[in-house]
Amino acid sequence: MNAPDKILQQHVDQSISSVETTPAISQWPDVKELYGRFDALVNQPMRSIKRGAMAKVLEHFESRCQGSKRLAEDAKRVIPGGVQHNLAFNYPFPLAMKEAQGAHLTDVDGNRYIDFLQAGGPTLLGSNPASVRAKVNEVLDECGPVTGLLHEYEVKLADLICQSMPGVDMVRLLGSGTEAVMGAVRLARAYTDRKWVIKIGGAYHGWSDQLVYGMRLPSTGRMEAVGIPRGATAYTQECLPNDLGALRRKLQLNRLRGGTAAVMVEPLGPESGTRPVHPDYNRQVRALCDEFGALLIFDEVVTGFRLGPGGAQAYFDVKPDITVMGKCLAGGYPMAGAIGGRKEVMMMLVGGIGTTSKRAFVGGTLSANPLSCVAGYYALLEAQRLDAAGKAGRAGDRLQRGLAEIVERRGLPYVVYNMGSIVHLQTSGVLLLDTSNLYKLWRVKAEAKERKHMMEEMGAAYSAHGLITLAGSRIYTSLADTDEVIDDALNRFDEVFKLV
Ligand SMILES: Cc1ncc(COP(=O)(O)O)c(C=O)c1O
Repeated sequence: MNAPDKILQQHVDQSISSVETTPAISQWPDVKELYGRFDALVNQPMRSIKRGAMAKVLEHFESRCQGSKRLAEDAKRVIPGGVQHNLAFNYPFPLAMKEAQGAHLTDVDGNRYIDFLQAGGPTLLGSNPASVRAKVNEVLDECGPVTGLLHEYEVKLADLICQSMPGVDMVRLLGSGTEAVMGAVRLARAYTDRKWVIKIGGAYHGWSDQLVYGMRLPSTGRMEAVGIPRGATAYTQECLPNDLGALRRKLQLNRLRGGTAAVMVEPLGPESGTRPVHPDYNRQVRALCDEFGALLIFDEVVTGFRLGPGGAQAYFDVKPDITVMGKCLAGGYPMAGAIGGRKEVMMMLVGGIGTTSKRAFVGGTLSANPLSCVAGYYALLEAQRLDAAGKAGRAGDRLQRGLAEIVERRGLPYVVYNMGSIVHLQTSGVLLLDTSNLYKLWRVKAEAKERKHMMEEMGAAYSAHGLITLAGSRIYTSLADTDEVIDDALNRFDEVFKLV
Protein backbone atom coordinates (compact mmCIF):
# COMPACT_ATOMS: atom_id res chain seq x y z
CA MET A 1 0.00 0.00 0.00
CA ASN A 2 1.41 3.45 -0.86
CA ALA A 3 1.68 6.22 1.76
CA PRO A 4 -1.47 8.23 0.89
CA ASP A 5 -3.47 5.03 0.75
CA LYS A 6 -2.16 4.04 4.19
CA ILE A 7 -3.22 7.40 5.60
CA LEU A 8 -6.66 7.05 4.01
CA GLN A 9 -6.87 3.51 5.36
CA GLN A 10 -6.03 4.65 8.89
CA HIS A 11 -8.54 7.45 8.60
CA VAL A 12 -11.13 5.04 7.34
CA ASP A 13 -10.48 2.43 10.05
CA GLN A 14 -10.77 5.10 12.72
CA SER A 15 -13.85 6.55 11.14
CA ILE A 16 -15.64 3.20 11.05
CA SER A 17 -15.44 2.83 14.79
CA SER A 18 -16.40 6.44 15.43
CA VAL A 19 -19.02 6.84 12.72
CA GLU A 20 -22.58 7.49 13.87
CA THR A 21 -25.12 6.02 11.55
CA THR A 22 -28.83 6.75 11.82
CA PRO A 23 -31.53 4.09 11.41
CA ALA A 24 -32.44 3.59 7.76
CA ILE A 25 -36.02 2.66 8.67
CA SER A 26 -37.61 5.39 10.76
CA GLN A 27 -40.83 3.48 11.34
CA TRP A 28 -42.07 0.01 10.39
CA PRO A 29 -45.31 0.29 8.39
CA ASP A 30 -48.59 -0.57 10.09
CA VAL A 31 -48.82 -4.01 8.48
CA LYS A 32 -52.45 -4.75 9.39
CA GLU A 33 -53.64 -1.45 7.95
CA LEU A 34 -51.49 -2.01 4.83
CA TYR A 35 -52.97 -5.43 4.08
CA GLY A 36 -56.44 -3.89 4.40
CA ARG A 37 -55.48 -1.28 1.81
CA PHE A 38 -53.95 -3.92 -0.50
CA ASP A 39 -57.28 -5.79 -0.42
CA ALA A 40 -59.17 -2.59 -1.17
CA LEU A 41 -56.82 -1.86 -4.12
CA VAL A 42 -57.23 -5.26 -5.78
CA ASN A 43 -60.95 -5.52 -5.04
CA GLN A 44 -61.87 -2.50 -7.12
CA PRO A 45 -61.50 -1.73 -10.81
CA MET A 46 -58.07 -0.55 -11.92
CA ARG A 47 -57.45 3.21 -11.98
CA SER A 48 -55.32 3.46 -15.12
CA ILE A 49 -54.12 6.45 -17.10
CA LYS A 50 -56.89 7.78 -19.37
CA ARG A 51 -56.64 6.51 -22.95
CA GLY A 52 -56.08 9.96 -24.53
CA ALA A 53 -53.36 10.79 -22.01
CA MET A 54 -51.70 7.39 -22.51
CA ALA A 55 -51.59 8.01 -26.28
CA LYS A 56 -49.69 11.23 -25.54
CA VAL A 57 -47.26 9.35 -23.29
CA LEU A 58 -46.55 6.92 -26.12
CA GLU A 59 -46.16 9.83 -28.55
CA HIS A 60 -43.46 11.21 -26.26
CA PHE A 61 -41.42 8.03 -26.76
CA GLU A 62 -41.80 8.32 -30.55
CA SER A 63 -40.80 11.97 -30.70
CA ARG A 64 -38.14 12.19 -27.99
CA CYS A 65 -36.55 8.75 -27.81
CA GLN A 66 -35.64 7.81 -31.38
CA GLY A 67 -32.04 6.92 -30.46
CA SER A 68 -33.28 4.45 -27.85
CA LYS A 69 -35.83 3.05 -30.27
CA ARG A 70 -33.18 2.40 -32.93
CA LEU A 71 -30.90 0.69 -30.43
CA ALA A 72 -33.79 -1.36 -29.04
CA GLU A 73 -34.64 -2.57 -32.55
CA ASP A 74 -31.00 -3.56 -33.14
CA ALA A 75 -30.97 -5.30 -29.75
CA LYS A 76 -33.97 -7.43 -30.72
CA ARG A 77 -31.94 -8.99 -33.55
CA VAL A 78 -29.20 -10.27 -31.27
CA ILE A 79 -30.64 -10.39 -27.74
CA PRO A 80 -33.69 -12.52 -26.91
CA GLY A 81 -36.54 -10.04 -26.36
CA GLY A 82 -34.05 -7.18 -26.75
CA VAL A 83 -33.27 -6.94 -23.03
CA GLN A 84 -30.81 -8.80 -20.85
CA HIS A 85 -32.33 -8.40 -17.41
CA ASN A 86 -35.64 -9.92 -16.37
CA LEU A 87 -36.73 -6.68 -14.76
CA ALA A 88 -35.47 -4.46 -17.61
CA PHE A 89 -38.32 -2.16 -18.47
CA ASN A 90 -39.33 -2.55 -22.08
CA TYR A 91 -42.62 -0.75 -22.57
CA PRO A 92 -43.06 0.66 -25.17
CA PHE A 93 -39.37 -0.09 -25.76
CA PRO A 94 -36.29 -0.05 -23.50
CA LEU A 95 -34.57 3.28 -22.98
CA ALA A 96 -30.82 3.25 -23.65
CA MET A 97 -28.75 5.18 -21.13
CA LYS A 98 -25.55 7.06 -21.78
CA GLU A 99 -24.68 8.83 -18.54
CA ALA A 100 -25.24 8.08 -14.87
CA GLN A 101 -24.16 10.56 -12.21
CA GLY A 102 -25.46 10.92 -8.66
CA ALA A 103 -29.25 10.99 -8.72
CA HIS A 104 -29.63 11.31 -12.47
CA LEU A 105 -29.49 9.32 -15.68
CA THR A 106 -29.28 10.71 -19.22
CA ASP A 107 -30.38 8.65 -22.19
CA VAL A 108 -28.81 8.49 -25.66
CA ASP A 109 -31.28 11.15 -26.88
CA GLY A 110 -30.22 13.58 -24.14
CA ASN A 111 -33.34 13.15 -21.96
CA ARG A 112 -32.59 13.42 -18.24
CA TYR A 113 -34.23 11.28 -15.57
CA ILE A 114 -34.27 10.98 -11.81
CA ASP A 115 -32.89 7.51 -11.17
CA PHE A 116 -35.09 5.57 -8.77
CA LEU A 117 -34.07 2.22 -10.25
CA GLN A 118 -30.48 2.43 -9.06
CA ALA A 119 -29.54 -0.50 -11.24
CA GLY A 120 -31.97 -2.62 -9.22
CA GLY A 121 -30.58 -1.60 -5.84
CA PRO A 122 -26.78 -1.61 -5.58
CA THR A 123 -25.93 2.09 -5.97
CA LEU A 124 -26.77 3.36 -2.49
CA LEU A 125 -24.24 6.22 -2.83
CA GLY A 126 -25.90 7.33 -6.07
CA SER A 127 -24.46 6.51 -9.47
CA ASN A 128 -20.78 6.47 -10.21
CA PRO A 129 -19.27 8.11 -7.09
CA ALA A 130 -15.83 9.56 -7.89
CA SER A 131 -14.31 8.45 -4.58
CA VAL A 132 -14.98 4.77 -5.32
CA ARG A 133 -14.08 5.09 -9.01
CA ALA A 134 -10.67 6.55 -8.12
CA LYS A 135 -9.87 3.55 -5.91
CA VAL A 136 -11.04 1.11 -8.56
CA ASN A 137 -8.84 2.82 -11.16
CA GLU A 138 -5.81 2.54 -8.87
CA VAL A 139 -6.26 -1.21 -8.59
CA LEU A 140 -6.92 -1.57 -12.31
CA ASP A 141 -3.68 0.31 -13.06
CA GLU A 142 -1.80 -1.96 -10.69
CA CYS A 143 -3.09 -5.45 -11.46
CA GLY A 144 -6.05 -5.25 -13.84
CA PRO A 145 -9.39 -6.76 -12.82
CA VAL A 146 -8.22 -10.23 -11.86
CA THR A 147 -5.19 -12.35 -10.98
CA GLY A 148 -6.77 -15.52 -9.61
CA LEU A 149 -4.61 -15.16 -6.48
CA LEU A 150 -5.14 -13.63 -3.07
CA HIS A 151 -5.51 -9.84 -3.01
CA GLU A 152 -5.45 -7.47 -0.07
CA TYR A 153 -8.91 -6.02 -0.85
CA GLU A 154 -10.44 -9.48 -0.73
CA VAL A 155 -9.51 -9.69 2.94
CA LYS A 156 -10.42 -6.08 3.66
CA LEU A 157 -13.90 -6.46 2.18
CA ALA A 158 -14.53 -9.71 4.05
CA ASP A 159 -13.27 -8.12 7.27
CA LEU A 160 -15.52 -5.09 6.84
CA ILE A 161 -18.57 -7.28 6.24
CA CYS A 162 -17.77 -9.35 9.35
CA GLN A 163 -17.43 -6.16 11.42
CA SER A 164 -20.73 -4.83 10.08
CA MET A 165 -23.16 -7.77 9.98
CA PRO A 166 -24.03 -9.26 13.39
CA GLY A 167 -24.59 -12.81 12.05
CA VAL A 168 -21.47 -12.96 9.91
CA ASP A 169 -18.14 -14.32 11.24
CA MET A 170 -16.79 -15.41 7.85
CA VAL A 171 -17.49 -14.61 4.23
CA ARG A 172 -17.24 -16.45 0.93
CA LEU A 173 -17.40 -14.11 -2.08
CA LEU A 174 -19.18 -15.26 -5.23
CA GLY A 175 -20.43 -13.82 -8.49
CA SER A 176 -24.07 -12.86 -7.91
CA GLY A 177 -26.97 -13.08 -5.51
CA THR A 178 -28.25 -16.13 -7.38
CA GLU A 179 -24.91 -17.93 -7.01
CA ALA A 180 -24.78 -17.05 -3.33
CA VAL A 181 -28.32 -18.38 -2.79
CA MET A 182 -27.39 -21.64 -4.54
CA GLY A 183 -24.29 -21.92 -2.38
CA ALA A 184 -26.22 -21.12 0.80
CA VAL A 185 -28.75 -23.88 0.13
CA ARG A 186 -25.96 -26.36 -0.56
CA LEU A 187 -24.13 -25.23 2.57
CA ALA A 188 -27.25 -25.64 4.73
CA ARG A 189 -27.85 -29.13 3.33
CA ALA A 190 -24.21 -30.13 3.82
CA TYR A 191 -24.12 -28.79 7.39
CA THR A 192 -27.42 -30.29 8.55
CA ASP A 193 -27.32 -33.40 6.38
CA ARG A 194 -30.99 -32.72 5.54
CA LYS A 195 -32.70 -31.87 2.26
CA TRP A 196 -35.85 -29.80 2.71
CA VAL A 197 -35.72 -26.05 2.13
CA ILE A 198 -38.70 -23.85 2.96
CA LYS A 199 -39.08 -20.43 1.35
CA ILE A 200 -41.83 -17.86 1.63
CA GLY A 201 -44.29 -17.64 -1.25
CA GLY A 202 -43.71 -14.68 -3.55
CA ALA A 203 -40.08 -14.18 -2.52
CA TYR A 204 -37.42 -13.82 -5.19
CA HIS A 205 -34.12 -15.52 -4.49
CA GLY A 206 -32.60 -15.45 -7.98
CA TRP A 207 -32.99 -18.00 -10.73
CA SER A 208 -31.35 -21.19 -9.50
CA ASP A 209 -33.09 -24.51 -10.26
CA GLN A 210 -34.15 -24.98 -6.64
CA LEU A 211 -35.65 -21.55 -6.10
CA VAL A 212 -37.64 -20.70 -9.18
CA TYR A 213 -40.53 -21.83 -7.06
CA GLY A 214 -43.41 -19.76 -5.67
CA MET A 215 -41.78 -16.79 -7.32
CA ARG A 216 -43.28 -13.24 -7.20
CA LEU A 217 -46.78 -14.54 -6.33
CA PRO A 218 -47.39 -16.90 -3.37
CA SER A 219 -48.62 -20.46 -3.95
CA THR A 220 -47.51 -20.49 -7.57
CA GLY A 221 -45.02 -23.34 -6.95
CA ARG A 222 -43.47 -24.46 -10.23
CA MET A 223 -45.50 -22.06 -12.40
CA GLU A 224 -42.32 -20.40 -13.69
CA ALA A 225 -40.08 -23.47 -13.50
CA VAL A 226 -39.85 -23.90 -17.28
CA GLY A 227 -36.80 -25.98 -18.20
CA ILE A 228 -36.32 -27.10 -14.60
CA PRO A 229 -36.79 -30.83 -13.90
CA ARG A 230 -39.20 -31.71 -11.11
CA GLY A 231 -36.36 -33.33 -9.21
CA ALA A 232 -34.60 -29.97 -8.87
CA THR A 233 -37.49 -28.51 -6.86
CA ALA A 234 -38.53 -31.76 -5.21
CA TYR A 235 -37.25 -30.60 -1.82
CA THR A 236 -38.32 -26.95 -2.09
CA GLN A 237 -41.48 -25.85 -0.29
CA GLU A 238 -43.25 -22.54 0.16
CA CYS A 239 -45.36 -21.02 2.94
CA LEU A 240 -47.66 -18.01 2.72
CA PRO A 241 -46.08 -14.80 4.02
CA ASN A 242 -46.65 -14.17 7.75
CA ASP A 243 -48.22 -17.63 8.19
CA LEU A 244 -46.25 -19.06 11.11
CA GLY A 245 -48.76 -21.88 11.61
CA ALA A 246 -48.13 -23.15 8.07
CA LEU A 247 -44.38 -22.91 8.60
CA ARG A 248 -44.63 -24.97 11.80
CA ARG A 249 -46.75 -27.60 10.04
CA LYS A 250 -44.18 -27.92 7.23
CA LEU A 251 -41.35 -28.23 9.75
CA GLN A 252 -43.32 -30.91 11.63
CA LEU A 253 -44.04 -32.85 8.46
CA ASN A 254 -40.44 -32.62 7.30
CA ARG A 255 -39.24 -33.91 10.67
CA LEU A 256 -40.92 -37.22 9.80
CA ARG A 257 -39.04 -37.43 6.51
CA GLY A 258 -35.47 -36.42 7.12
CA GLY A 259 -35.81 -32.87 8.44
CA THR A 260 -35.55 -29.29 7.18
CA ALA A 261 -32.12 -28.00 6.19
CA ALA A 262 -33.10 -24.34 6.07
CA VAL A 263 -35.83 -21.75 6.10
CA MET A 264 -34.98 -18.92 3.74
CA VAL A 265 -36.59 -15.50 4.09
CA GLU A 266 -36.33 -12.05 2.61
CA PRO A 267 -36.40 -10.35 6.01
CA LEU A 268 -38.66 -7.43 4.97
CA GLY A 269 -41.10 -9.82 3.31
CA PRO A 270 -41.28 -11.30 -0.20
CA GLU A 271 -40.10 -9.11 -3.10
CA SER A 272 -38.26 -6.64 -0.89
CA GLY A 273 -41.27 -6.11 1.36
CA THR A 274 -43.97 -6.02 -1.33
CA ARG A 275 -45.85 -8.16 1.18
CA PRO A 276 -44.35 -6.83 4.42
CA VAL A 277 -43.78 -9.05 7.43
CA HIS A 278 -45.20 -8.39 10.87
CA PRO A 279 -42.47 -6.75 12.97
CA ASP A 280 -41.94 -9.86 15.11
CA TYR A 281 -42.10 -12.35 12.24
CA ASN A 282 -38.34 -12.89 11.77
CA ARG A 283 -37.82 -13.48 15.49
CA GLN A 284 -40.57 -16.10 15.46
CA VAL A 285 -39.08 -17.80 12.40
CA ARG A 286 -35.74 -17.86 14.24
CA ALA A 287 -37.44 -19.57 17.20
CA LEU A 288 -39.08 -22.16 14.92
CA CYS A 289 -35.75 -22.88 13.22
CA ASP A 290 -34.16 -23.42 16.64
CA GLU A 291 -36.98 -25.70 17.73
CA PHE A 292 -36.66 -27.89 14.62
CA GLY A 293 -32.88 -27.68 14.16
CA ALA A 294 -33.15 -25.96 10.77
CA LEU A 295 -30.77 -23.20 9.71
CA LEU A 296 -32.20 -19.73 9.19
CA ILE A 297 -31.03 -18.08 5.97
CA PHE A 298 -31.58 -14.35 5.53
CA ASP A 299 -31.48 -13.33 1.89
CA GLU A 300 -30.05 -9.83 2.33
CA VAL A 301 -29.25 -9.30 -1.34
CA VAL A 302 -31.43 -6.16 -1.29
CA THR A 303 -31.36 -5.26 2.40
CA GLY A 304 -27.64 -5.86 3.00
CA PHE A 305 -26.04 -2.44 3.57
CA ARG A 306 -29.09 -0.62 2.11
CA LEU A 307 -30.66 -0.82 5.58
CA GLY A 308 -27.38 0.17 7.20
CA PRO A 309 -24.07 -1.60 7.77
CA GLY A 310 -25.76 -4.41 9.73
CA GLY A 311 -28.56 -5.00 7.21
CA ALA A 312 -32.00 -6.24 8.19
CA GLN A 313 -30.52 -8.56 10.83
CA ALA A 314 -29.35 -5.54 12.82
CA TYR A 315 -32.68 -3.77 12.33
CA PHE A 316 -34.74 -6.76 13.54
CA ASP A 317 -32.05 -7.84 16.02
CA VAL A 318 -32.31 -11.42 14.75
CA LYS A 319 -29.17 -13.42 13.91
CA PRO A 320 -29.50 -15.78 10.96
CA ASP A 321 -27.14 -18.77 10.62
CA ILE A 322 -26.41 -17.89 7.00
CA THR A 323 -26.67 -14.54 5.27
CA VAL A 324 -26.80 -14.14 1.51
CA MET A 325 -25.51 -10.83 0.17
CA GLY A 326 -25.23 -9.15 -3.24
CA LYS A 327 -26.03 -5.82 -4.90
CA CYS A 328 -24.63 -3.05 -2.59
CA LEU A 329 -21.80 -5.43 -1.67
CA ALA A 330 -19.86 -4.33 -4.77
CA GLY A 331 -21.26 -0.78 -4.94
CA GLY A 332 -22.78 -1.39 -8.38
CA TYR A 333 -19.58 -2.87 -9.83
CA PRO A 334 -19.87 -6.35 -11.31
CA MET A 335 -19.72 -9.64 -9.39
CA ALA A 336 -21.81 -8.96 -6.29
CA GLY A 337 -22.56 -12.06 -4.29
CA ALA A 338 -21.50 -13.53 -0.98
CA ILE A 339 -22.40 -16.09 1.64
CA GLY A 340 -21.71 -15.12 5.22
CA GLY A 341 -22.47 -16.83 8.50
CA ARG A 342 -21.47 -18.48 11.73
CA LYS A 343 -17.90 -19.74 11.66
CA GLU A 344 -18.86 -23.32 12.43
CA VAL A 345 -21.24 -23.41 9.46
CA MET A 346 -18.99 -21.42 7.13
CA MET A 347 -16.07 -23.77 7.66
CA MET A 348 -17.90 -26.18 5.36
CA LEU A 349 -17.02 -23.82 2.50
CA VAL A 350 -13.26 -24.14 2.80
CA GLY A 351 -11.68 -23.46 -0.55
CA GLY A 352 -8.36 -24.36 -2.13
CA ILE A 353 -6.94 -27.25 -4.08
CA GLY A 354 -5.38 -29.06 -1.13
CA THR A 355 -8.54 -29.25 0.95
CA THR A 356 -9.53 -32.72 2.04
CA SER A 357 -12.21 -31.92 4.62
CA LYS A 358 -15.87 -32.58 3.87
CA ARG A 359 -17.13 -29.47 2.15
CA ALA A 360 -19.92 -27.96 0.08
CA PHE A 361 -18.30 -27.12 -3.22
CA VAL A 362 -18.74 -23.52 -4.42
CA GLY A 363 -16.46 -21.28 -6.42
CA GLY A 364 -15.90 -19.31 -9.61
CA THR A 365 -13.05 -18.14 -11.83
CA LEU A 366 -13.79 -14.47 -11.23
CA SER A 367 -15.07 -14.75 -7.64
CA ALA A 368 -13.48 -12.26 -5.25
CA ASN A 369 -11.59 -10.49 -8.03
CA PRO A 370 -9.67 -7.36 -6.98
CA LEU A 371 -11.89 -5.03 -9.04
CA SER A 372 -15.13 -6.06 -7.30
CA CYS A 373 -13.44 -6.24 -3.90
CA VAL A 374 -11.88 -2.77 -3.98
CA ALA A 375 -15.15 -1.34 -5.31
CA GLY A 376 -17.16 -3.07 -2.59
CA TYR A 377 -14.75 -2.13 0.14
CA TYR A 378 -14.73 1.59 -0.61
CA ALA A 379 -18.44 1.71 -1.47
CA LEU A 380 -19.30 0.18 1.91
CA LEU A 381 -16.83 2.40 3.74
CA GLU A 382 -18.17 5.50 2.07
CA ALA A 383 -21.71 4.38 2.85
CA GLN A 384 -20.80 4.08 6.54
CA ARG A 385 -18.77 7.28 6.66
CA LEU A 386 -21.52 9.30 5.00
CA ASP A 387 -24.43 7.51 6.71
CA ALA A 388 -25.77 6.72 3.24
CA ALA A 389 -28.41 4.24 4.40
CA GLY A 390 -29.81 6.70 6.96
CA LYS A 391 -29.85 9.61 4.53
CA ALA A 392 -31.30 7.53 1.70
CA GLY A 393 -33.90 6.37 4.23
CA ARG A 394 -34.87 9.97 5.00
CA ALA A 395 -35.19 10.60 1.24
CA GLY A 396 -37.46 7.55 1.07
CA ASP A 397 -39.56 8.91 3.96
CA ARG A 398 -39.91 12.30 2.25
CA LEU A 399 -40.91 10.68 -1.02
CA GLN A 400 -43.41 8.36 0.69
CA ARG A 401 -45.02 11.25 2.57
CA GLY A 402 -45.26 13.35 -0.60
CA LEU A 403 -46.66 10.51 -2.69
CA ALA A 404 -49.20 9.61 -0.01
CA GLU A 405 -50.37 13.24 0.04
CA ILE A 406 -50.79 13.31 -3.76
CA VAL A 407 -52.65 9.98 -3.81
CA GLU A 408 -54.98 11.18 -1.04
CA ARG A 409 -55.56 14.59 -2.64
CA ARG A 410 -56.44 12.98 -5.96
CA GLY A 411 -58.67 10.34 -4.37
CA LEU A 412 -56.71 7.41 -5.81
CA PRO A 413 -56.70 3.91 -4.26
CA TYR A 414 -52.93 3.52 -4.69
CA VAL A 415 -50.87 2.32 -1.73
CA VAL A 416 -47.52 3.92 -0.87
CA TYR A 417 -45.24 2.76 1.94
CA ASN A 418 -41.54 2.50 2.57
CA MET A 419 -38.89 0.76 4.56
CA GLY A 420 -36.19 3.43 4.47
CA SER A 421 -34.83 3.75 0.96
CA ILE A 422 -37.10 1.01 -0.40
CA VAL A 423 -40.34 2.69 -1.43
CA HIS A 424 -43.31 0.69 -2.72
CA LEU A 425 -45.80 2.44 -4.95
CA GLN A 426 -48.64 0.01 -5.67
CA THR A 427 -50.95 1.35 -8.35
CA SER A 428 -52.08 -1.77 -10.21
CA GLY A 429 -51.63 -4.17 -7.29
CA VAL A 430 -50.61 -7.00 -9.64
CA LEU A 431 -48.24 -8.51 -7.08
CA LEU A 432 -50.90 -8.24 -4.37
CA LEU A 433 -53.58 -10.38 -5.99
CA ASP A 434 -54.87 -13.18 -3.78
CA THR A 435 -53.23 -16.39 -5.02
CA SER A 436 -53.36 -18.14 -1.67
CA ASN A 437 -54.83 -21.32 -3.19
CA LEU A 438 -55.10 -22.93 -6.62
CA TYR A 439 -58.70 -21.88 -7.22
CA LYS A 440 -57.91 -18.24 -6.44
CA LEU A 441 -54.81 -18.40 -8.63
CA TRP A 442 -56.83 -19.73 -11.57
CA ARG A 443 -59.48 -17.04 -10.99
CA VAL A 444 -57.05 -14.09 -11.07
CA LYS A 445 -54.93 -15.23 -14.05
CA ALA A 446 -56.61 -13.00 -16.67
CA GLU A 447 -56.85 -10.09 -14.26
CA ALA A 448 -53.14 -10.38 -13.45
CA LYS A 449 -52.36 -9.84 -17.13
CA GLU A 450 -54.41 -6.64 -17.25
CA ARG A 451 -52.97 -5.35 -14.00
CA LYS A 452 -49.45 -6.10 -15.21
CA HIS A 453 -50.12 -4.04 -18.33
CA MET A 454 -51.35 -1.18 -16.17
CA MET A 455 -48.07 -1.36 -14.23
CA GLU A 456 -46.20 -1.12 -17.55
CA GLU A 457 -48.24 1.90 -18.55
CA MET A 458 -47.56 3.60 -15.22
CA GLY A 459 -43.84 2.89 -15.64
CA ALA A 460 -43.87 4.34 -19.14
CA ALA A 461 -45.73 7.44 -17.93
CA TYR A 462 -43.20 7.92 -15.12
CA SER A 463 -40.35 7.63 -17.65
CA ALA A 464 -42.01 10.12 -19.98
CA HIS A 465 -42.08 12.50 -17.02
CA GLY A 466 -38.40 11.99 -16.24
CA LEU A 467 -38.68 9.29 -13.56
CA ILE A 468 -37.08 5.86 -13.85
CA THR A 469 -38.59 3.34 -11.40
CA LEU A 470 -38.19 -0.40 -10.88
CA ALA A 471 -40.86 -1.97 -13.09
CA GLY A 472 -43.26 0.89 -12.37
CA SER A 473 -43.93 -0.18 -8.79
CA ARG A 474 -40.78 0.16 -6.71
CA ILE A 475 -38.42 3.01 -6.01
CA TYR A 476 -34.95 2.96 -4.52
CA THR A 477 -33.64 6.21 -3.08
CA SER A 478 -29.96 6.94 -2.52
CA LEU A 479 -27.60 9.30 -0.74
CA ALA A 480 -27.72 11.49 -3.86
CA ASP A 481 -31.46 12.15 -3.41
CA THR A 482 -31.44 15.56 -1.76
CA ASP A 483 -34.69 17.29 -0.71
CA GLU A 484 -34.58 19.20 -4.02
CA VAL A 485 -34.37 15.96 -6.03
CA ILE A 486 -37.27 14.42 -4.08
CA ASP A 487 -39.43 17.55 -4.40
CA ASP A 488 -38.72 17.67 -8.13
CA ALA A 489 -39.73 13.99 -8.34
CA LEU A 490 -42.95 14.63 -6.42
CA ASN A 491 -44.00 17.34 -8.90
CA ARG A 492 -43.40 14.87 -11.70
CA PHE A 493 -45.41 12.11 -10.02
CA ASP A 494 -48.22 14.63 -9.50
CA GLU A 495 -48.21 15.34 -13.26
CA VAL A 496 -48.53 11.59 -13.94
CA PHE A 497 -51.34 11.05 -11.44
CA LYS A 498 -53.19 13.97 -13.05
CA LEU A 499 -53.56 11.73 -16.13
CA VAL A 500 -55.54 9.03 -14.28
C1 LIG B 1 -33.77 -10.88 -2.55
C2 LIG B 1 -32.96 -11.26 -3.77
N1 LIG B 1 -32.23 -12.39 -3.73
C3 LIG B 1 -31.46 -12.78 -4.77
C4 LIG B 1 -31.41 -12.03 -5.92
C5 LIG B 1 -30.56 -12.47 -7.07
O1 LIG B 1 -29.43 -11.67 -7.17
P1 LIG B 1 -28.67 -11.54 -8.56
O2 LIG B 1 -29.56 -10.77 -9.48
O3 LIG B 1 -27.41 -10.81 -8.21
O4 LIG B 1 -28.40 -12.91 -9.05
C6 LIG B 1 -32.16 -10.84 -6.00
C7 LIG B 1 -32.12 -10.02 -7.21
O5 LIG B 1 -32.87 -9.08 -7.42
C8 LIG B 1 -32.96 -10.45 -4.90
O6 LIG B 1 -33.72 -9.34 -4.93
